[in-house]
Amino acid sequence: MFDSLKNTVDFYLRNKIRFSRKNYFEPSESKSDLQLSKDEEELEKILVDKYGLLEYRENSTIIGYLQNLYTLYFLDKYLSPEYSTSLSVLDIGSKNWFYAKGEYSFFKRYSDKLYLDGVEIDAYRLYSNFYNRYEVAKFYIKDLENTSYIPDNLLNINKRYDYIIWILPFVIIQPHRFWGLPDKYFYPKKLFEHAYSLLKPGGTMLIINQGKDEAEEQRNIIGERSFEVFKLDSIFYKYKNERFLYRIIKGGEL
Ligand SMILES: C[S@@+](CC[C@H](N)C(=O)[O-])C[C@H]1O[C@@H](n2cnc3c(N)ncnc32)[C@H](O)[C@@H]1O
Repeated sequence: MFDSLKNTVDFYLRNKIRFSRKNYFEPSESKSDLQLSKDEEELEKILVDKYGLLEYRENSTIIGYLQNLYTLYFLDKYLSPEYSTSLSVLDIGSKNWFYAKGEYSFFKRYSDKLYLDGVEIDAYRLYSNFYNRYEVAKFYIKDLENTSYIPDNLLNINKRYDYIIWILPFVIIQPHRFWGLPDKYFYPKKLFEHAYSLLKPGGTMLIINQGKDEAEEQRNIIGERSFEVFKLDSIFYKYKNERFLYRIIKGGEL
C-alpha cells in the first residue's frame, strides 16, 4: 500500500518537473577486447556484415554494442520479413531505448521507408546523472531516420503496425511496483489486447519474458490467440534469468 502511494506521488512529480541542460552523450569505447566466445565471434561477423554495423561498432559503448547485437540476434532468428516499400514497427515499453539501433538496423534491411516508434509510459524517470530516459533515448535514436520515442501510455497509441516488439512487459505486479509505476497502470491483459489490436492483419508481435513464472503468466494473457514459444539463448550479453520468446502472428481477420 505504502509502495503504491509512493510510486503514485513520485510518478506524478517526475512527469511535472523537467531539468534542462546539455544533451546527453556517451563516448565510444574500443572493441579490441570484447571477450566473445568462438560462436559469438562468428555470429558477430555475420550480423555486422548483414546489417552494416561497422560504423556503429566504432561509435558505441561496449555494453551498448553487445546489447544491440543480442537484439539483432533474436530478430534475425525469429523474424523473416519480406521486402516491403514501407514498414511500420512499434517497440513497447522502450525504457531509454538502448536497443533502438538493433531494431532499426534489422527492419531497415527489409524496407526503404521504415517508421519505428517506441512508446514508454515512464519517460521522465531520472538516472543518477539527472538525465531522464527520454533524453538518453534521444541520443540513441539521433541518427535513425523516421524513428520516434513517444512518452506516453501504450493505450493512447492508435496507429497500425506490421511488427510489434515487446521486451519484458510487466505481467506480474511486483516488478511493475519495483520499477516505480503506480498500481493504477497495471492491466497486462488490457495492454496485450490493445497491442494486438494495433497489429495489421498478418502482422507479427514478438514478446520476450524473463523467468518461467512470467512466461507462464504471459501465456495466460495471450489466451486463445495462436502463438509459438521459444527459449532464447543467452548470447553476447549474459542475462540473469532465462528468457522466453513468444511469436504471435495476427490472422487475416479485420
Ligand atoms: C521491464 S521494463 C523493459 C524495458 C525495456 N524494454 C528493456 O528491454 O529493458 C518495462 C517497461 O515498460 C514500461 N511500461 C509499462 N507499462 C506501460 C504502458 N502502459 N505503456 C508504455 N510503457 C509501459 C515501463 O515503464 C518499463 O520501462
